[in-house]
Amino acid sequence: MGDAPVWWRHGVFYQIYPRSYQDANGDGVGDLEGIRRRLDHLAWLGVDAIWLSPFQPSPMADFGYDVADYCDVDPLFGTLADYDRLLADAHARGIRVTIDWVPNHSSDRHPWFQESRAARTSAKRDWYVWRDGRDGGPPNNWVSIFGGPAWEHDPATGQWYLHSFLREQPDLNWRNPELVRAMHDVLRFWLARGTDGFRIDVIHRIAKDPELRDNPLLPGAGPDAGYGGQRHLHDENHPDVHAMLRGIRAVLDEYPERMAVGEVYLFDPAEVARYYGRGDELHLAFNFSFLRCPWDAAAFRAEVERFEALCPPEGWPTWVLSNHDVPRHATRYDHPTLGDARARVAAMMLLTLRGTPFLYAGEEIGMRNVAVPEERLQDPLARTLHPALSRDGERTPMRWDAAAPGCGFTTAAEPWLPLGPQPPGTDVAAQRADRGSLLWLYRDLVALRREHPALHRGTFRALDAPDGVFAYERAHAGRRAVVALNFGEAPVDVKLGPGRVAGGLSTCHGRVLPDATDAVSLAPCEGIVLIRA
Ligand code: NOJ
Repeated sequence: MGDAPVWWRHGVFYQIYPRSYQDANGDGVGDLEGIRRRLDHLAWLGVDAIWLSPFQPSPMADFGYDVADYCDVDPLFGTLADYDRLLADAHARGIRVTIDWVPNHSSDRHPWFQESRAARTSAKRDWYVWRDGRDGGPPNNWVSIFGGPAWEHDPATGQWYLHSFLREQPDLNWRNPELVRAMHDVLRFWLARGTDGFRIDVIHRIAKDPELRDNPLLPGAGPDAGYGGQRHLHDENHPDVHAMLRGIRAVLDEYPERMAVGEVYLFDPAEVARYYGRGDELHLAFNFSFLRCPWDAAAFRAEVERFEALCPPEGWPTWVLSNHDVPRHATRYDHPTLGDARARVAAMMLLTLRGTPFLYAGEEIGMRNVAVPEERLQDPLARTLHPALSRDGERTPMRWDAAAPGCGFTTAAEPWLPLGPQPPGTDVAAQRADRGSLLWLYRDLVALRREHPALHRGTFRALDAPDGVFAYERAHAGRRAVVALNFGEAPVDVKLGPGRVAGGLSTCHGRVLPDATDAVSLAPCEGIVLIRA
């Protein structure tokens, strides 16, 4: 990649769940025009790119991750013209637009599936995975990630179809060349409009064992054994996925400066690292290790060092604390008396590590998960797995102005999910008015990262630090930045080595003044970035 800036490596991404960002037409659900109207917030925050969760036509069995037409916009979210306007206005502000692409499965209402299920002899039969049953039951022992067997019986044709998720989400057959061509053309459709890239949904699932063999059972499977108590040898992360990815990458390479970040939902960083190939597969692979990390300096350090060691030279790390599938990190790391202190330290870490940070809309104002009453739960997982596993709590609407009706999100009497409760001050208007807010800290960190190449592209080296502190150095072309994060609740002194300090940021005190010190005293739960002179 040389030394040229590469936007997907050196920039900051911001994920938007379109249902929950801004409702422009007053129906209680966010839309593309709403996102367009909020671009000034994103430009002010300084993010380089947005990722939009699916907005294509969908029966919404899984809120858009069940796509019924890959090349259009669901009327709930607007029109293709709205998309083009959003794209143009984002580009005018220097913000790139990436969108979700869901290659593993479509909706059961997709015309491809309708044709496929019509008859065993249908021309598109093989675009999905159909098999005869075994002993009156499903063809093998695979289970759906969303509960129950991964197979649905189709009485009309007497066969079973595979669905790794809901039965309304039949798996596409990536071993069929026509299907592959059709899915590649979907990419071209959006690329030709100027779309900058894709977040690829569950990319590690598109290749399955061609013989559909049973997964081995885990001996004495306990609660951590994985769904179905199985070792997922044959239904995910099949070696053939890499050749399929190279084909996808070749399509992206037909267009300049486009990228893909893949959802590789494997918690084994060595496997995740393989998805970069030799620079001919994913540009970025999500590393989700922080989603399961306890609030512990040593645990974070271990995750970062592990991935740093495994990341191939062609690769580049990614860091994620929150998304639409897991409880928000402000909730995971919440503390009864510390307010936003931990969210501040977490933000500093996310935005100063080597690797692309992915923010999730609302984390910049410290949004917590909302305890959605059971009768208002929407997520299918509440039904197919358990209400406690519903993802609605992290998908509630963005809070723009707590003093405005509908929090400035909607003019409808009821948004699709409740807006709160949330701690006082969890809204953009209140935090814009407060220079010391979490929102301003995010903005300052994004700006600092952009200003200093050491922070957006420098090397990473962990530094020795007292227990409870995660400290590291970032360096580029002789310029250095040092970061020290106190995860603990007691003050601590940290020696950072000699060198003049030219400036920086503290999560507690804002701007750091130039100094000649080689040691800092960190307050409880304080993080600091020092730019070396
Ligand atoms: C991963 C997505 O992030 C999640 O929201 C969705 O339910 C599944 N893939 C199925 O598409």
